Amino acid sequence: MSISVALIGCGEQARTNILPSLLATSGACLRVVCDPNEEQARATAACLPGVRVRKDYRALFDDSERIDAVIIVASPQIHYEAATLALEHGVHVFTEKPPTVTTAELESLAELARSKGLVTAVGHNLRYATACDVLFQLIKDRAPEKLRGFDVRYVVSGPRGDRWALNSPLRSFLLSHGVHVLDLVLHFLGQPGSISASAVPAGDGGILVSVRLGFASGALSNIVAANCGALFQLDIWSMFESGLHVHLDSLSELRCYGESSRGARWSECWRPKTLEAGYSRPGYLGEVREFFEAIRVGRATSPSFEEEVATYRVLDAIESQIESSTC
Ligand SMILES: NC(=O)c1ccc[n+]([C@@H]2O[C@H](COP(=O)([O-])OP(=O)(O)OC[C@H]3O[C@@H](n4cnc5c(N)ncnc54)[C@H](O)[C@@H]3O)[C@@H](O)[C@H]2O)c1
Repeated sequence: MSISVALIGCGEQARTNILPSLLATSGACLRVVCDPNEEQARATAACLPGVRVRKDYRALFDDSERIDAVIIVASPQIHYEAATLALEHGVHVFTEKPPTVTTAELESLAELARSKGLVTAVGHNLRYATACDVLFQLIKDRAPEKLRGFDVRYVVSGPRGDRWALNSPLRSFLLSHGVHVLDLVLHFLGQPGSISASAVPAGDGGILVSVRLGFASGALSNIVAANCGALFQLDIWSMFESGLHVHLDSLSELRCYGESSRGARWSECWRPKTLEAGYSRPGYLGEVREFFEAIRVGRATSPSFEEEVATYRVLDAIESQIESSTC
């Protein structure tokens, strides 16, 4: 079965990461690209014979288009509006993060998808990154309840300040980057029982957020996330009851200390294949393929809009703690 797809939003992320992943996904057939910036839409479709161009996504849901699924890569406001329309018309939806501005909007989308029996997905590529998958399997093999510590340092160089006309640099940061980090932590550890958060302004309109999460298993997670760095750096450090500790350095090296067959002073190292294809390593290919596989076999995908609601609730708790501590 070939799944007819429309791409809504033809900006940087759509053209650089999502479109190549979509074209490398068998069973998905791109029919239409859509952007009010017609020049951008035409440039996107230029090398894709037979792909139509539209300025207004609302025209996609005519019976004549017969679209089965949309991939929306624009802004949280457009994600929400276009996803609502698509779901109302019985169309499966993948949105880039963040899927909405508010939790209430996301809850309404999750409810609509549930009532229509449609597949939804949010573009949290990091959990599909090859290195994170290796770490996830390692944790699963050693039993997640034996994990004691899971610390994440996530530093990016921007964007800084207000975004998407939210009138809140903090919400802008949390929706741009906080959701990515929380998706990873909740994917590995489940829902936290306790949340403590604070933030300081940093570097030219930037922000540094520090969060401590406690889990029913006894594990603790410390997160430092900032948008005032020189480049994107992701560091994950996890520690098990047995003393094993594992360090993941920017998706490019995973090192285990304390479990080497050579003795206590040795560590073992995993690295991605030298020639690993560009879109599988950062997880874009994995997230797009997972969406179409879920449609094909008729199951939920991860994270669905429903799963993302739980992430948004943690995000809201973090935001309100930071706001009340700075009042
Ligand atoms: N997962 C990741 O690694 C990652 C990386 C970058 C961006 N993103 C996300 O991708 C999304 C897009 O980011 P970007 O950097 O490509 O932004 P961008 O500004 O380059 O692209 C957004 C596009 O949406 C289009 N658009 C605006 N209104 C529209 C409408 N009504 N219908 C259709 N298209 C419309 C714009 O014309 C533009 O081409 C954001 O939500 C961002 O958070 C994710």
